[in-house]
Amino acid sequence: MADTVYTLNTGAQIPALGLGTWQSDPGQVKAAVSHAIQKGYRHIDCAYVYDNEDEVGQGIKDGLEKSGIKREDLFVTTKLWCTYHSRVEENLDKSLKSLGLEYVDLYLMHWPVPMNPKGNNEKFPKLPDGSRDLDESWSHLQTWRELEKLPTTGKVRAIGVSNYSVKYLEQLLSVASVTPAANQIENHPYLPQQEIVDFCKSKGILVEAYSPLGSTGSPLFQEQGVQEVAAKHKVTAGAVLLSYHIARGLVVLAKSVTPSRIEENRNVIKLDSTDVAALDKISNSKGITRYVYPAFGVNVGFPDKPDGKILKQTL
Ligand SMILES: NC(=O)c1ccc[n+]([C@@H]2O[C@H](COP(=O)([O-])OP(=O)(O)OC[C@H]3O[C@@H](n4cnc5c(N)ncnc54)[C@H](OP(=O)(O)O)[C@@H]3O)[C@@H](O)[C@H]2O)c1
Repeated sequence: MADTVYTLNTGAQIPALGLGTWQSDPGQVKAAVSHAIQKGYRHIDCAYVYDNEDEVGQGIKDGLEKSGIKREDLFVTTKLWCTYHSRVEENLDKSLKSLGLEYVDLYLMHWPVPMNPKGNNEKFPKLPDGSRDLDESWSHLQTWRELEKLPTTGKVRAIGVSNYSVKYLEQLLSVASVTPAANQIENHPYLPQQEIVDFCKSKGILVEAYSPLGSTGSPLFQEQGVQEVAAKHKVTAGAVLLSYHIARGLVVLAKSVTPSRIEENRNVIKLDSTDVAALDKISNSKGITRYVYPAFGVNVGFPDKPDGKILKQTL
């Protein structure tokens, strides 16, 4: 199952399991990426804002050399940061330079939230009152039109979005001449976001699940419903959490800088519809039920549900 591949709406293939690199510290991430490639990973998920693309690039180079595979055998994604929405190609060029690559396989708009490109910080500008310095003169739809120009440059093979709700996708599709190849969203049994998954499927947009293990310090490993499926199949809770997405036809991005976990995370298995239904049920009582991003001070269109609980803030 670890070698499952999907076909994007561009016709290109994308491996279902990818290595995440958010919060992978410099000093660790080169070795992690190289190890992952040597152990069979063919998909690396990066972003300009993770501040580690230099080392990720060194890890890619090392991994390709040591495993003897070619650049074209690897699928690399990176993402446009919010302060660069009006300077798309500039941000892409910075990522390519850091990564040491001539092209990425997928370039995503990280968030549909333009931030002030001339603010008091290059990545996280703030207003004097401490709130995020958003760029209200620019819209995510203008950003998408800029992204649409990139495939002809040869620097990206496909373009997509991240953190898009159905509402924002509908806005984007109403003006788009290129349908996004992917939508990368938070996804795990506390937040299955089935309505977005179904919407994307109906439009030919592949969903990529981020924070599938619930991110650092997650309670998902101890969750009873996850433990039950793990016991049934005699695998770890981690294997169930990653396999859940592949069973639903999603890409899954798992981050680790620990060699043994990088290897363990390739032990994805085939779950059946009963397992998936059991995992889906967890969100009925334990799910994150409100998707507002207080760091941005804006709701990017995710539905609010009654209790308004926020499990964590992504930024
Ligand atoms: N588009 C976006 O806005 C967005 C947002 C968040 C994430 N992402 C992407 O998705 C990737 C994955 O999400 P994430 O980093 O939030 O979290 P995650 O992959 O759900 O969880 C990572 C955490 O789980 C630990 N871990 C990994 N494998 C494990 C295992 N087998 N057993 C126990 N613990 C394990 C890692 O520790 P060690 O590293 O110490 O082993 C780390 O603390 C990111 O790295 C990034 O590439 C994208």
